[in-house]
Amino acid sequence: MARVISFSSALCWFFFFFFFSFSSLQTISQPRVNHLLTSCNNRSENFTEDSSYDTNRRSALKYLRTTSSTTPPYLSVTKGLSPDTVYGMYHCRVDITKSTCRICVRNAVTEISRSCTSQKEAFVFYEQCMVRYSDYSFFGLQELQGPNALLPSTSNFPITSRFGEKLPGKMNKLITRAASTILWPEPYFVMDKQHVNEFGSSYAVDTLVQCSPDLDPGNCTVCLRLAVQGILDCCSQSRSALNFLPKCLVRFNTSSLPPNDVVPSLGFIEGNKIFESTFIVVITASALALVGL
Ligand SMILES: *[C@@H]1O[C@H](CO)[C@@H](O)[C@H](O)[C@H]1NC(C)=O
Ligand SMILES: *[C@@H]1O[C@H](CO)[C@@H](O)[C@H](O)[C@H]1NC(C)=O
Ligand SMILES: *[C@@H]1O[C@H](CO)[C@@H](O)[C@H](O)[C@H]1NC(C)=O
Ligand SMILES: *[C@@H]1O[C@H](CO)[C@@H](O)[C@H](O)[C@H]1NC(C)=O
Repeated sequence: MARVISFSSALCWFFFFFFFSFSSLQTISQPRVNHLLTSCNNRSENFTEDSSYDTNRRSALKYLRTTSSTTPPYLSVTKGLSPDTVYGMYHCRVDITKSTCRICVRNAVTEISRSCTSQKEAFVFYEQCMVRYSDYSFFGLQELQGPNALLPSTSNFPITSRFGEKLPGKMNKLITRAASTILWPEPYFVMDKQHVNEFGSSYAVDTLVQCSPDLDPGNCTVCLRLAVQGILDCCSQSRSALNFLPKCLVRFNTSSLPPNDVVPSLGFIEGNKIFESTFIVVITASALALVGL
């Protein structure tokens, strides 16, 4: 009898550790999202806590957060009656997974509700998504005056590289393609892959251009040109860059240039270590289980 009990308790320990390590592994592999910018528009009107506007704002944000797990990369919402109507939306990059989009929107909603507690208009940009709301309908508007989040890489192409020169031409072609790609529910995007030969070797360039689906093709084009101009003005020699505007985004990234640019991938090494230590926990648990027997 005692034998049976200790066997089952050992088994319990085993499953406990197994479950524990499994859930910690899951936490490790959860997609990371990076906050870039929160902009509470202090030129917009103010609202007070628990006013009708605040209630509508909460319910709009809740709708965006809960619906992000089941819907496409773009979602808009209108809540409440005039004059306290709240208009909101989120927009995820199309090159990320649904679960990354959901986590990004969830974090963005938390961030915007915590940071913007009195302004009727607010934006939050992450590397993977954006969330906004306001007291006027912005659907279909071009909105070239809004805030934007620009994220260049810290490393640049060598000064002798011709990458920066070629960037505008390449972007223009992609913009034309994106503006004429009308596929519901996520029209207006192009993901492009290219290999460039330079310095006697080759590197890969991934480019994404994307507009919010409420724009017409003309306005999509205008927005994307502005986004590209922002990148050219600041960082055309960057190894990667993202410019996220309220209605569109542009991103490119490049693989590293061998042989002068080889850096060890720390993330991978760390991941391995974490995996190893989890593995040891499981082994220890099994050993304990055996000792218990
Ligand atoms: C309004 O926001 C801008 C930038 O977002 C900031 O520079 C300015 O100080 C703010 N003004 C007030 C009154 O908070
Ligand atoms: C909103 O409130 C801030 C102070 O909290 C004030 O500086 C600002 O002028 C107000 N904005 C409007 C549009 O009334
Ligand atoms: C772009 O949006 C504006 C409003 O923001 C609208 O007046 C215009 O007709 C739209 N279309 C084009 C092609 O600019
Ligand atoms: C660009 O970044 C994405 C991740 O967002 C990655 O999957 C892809 O391999 C990168 N492309 C290049 C050329 O490094």
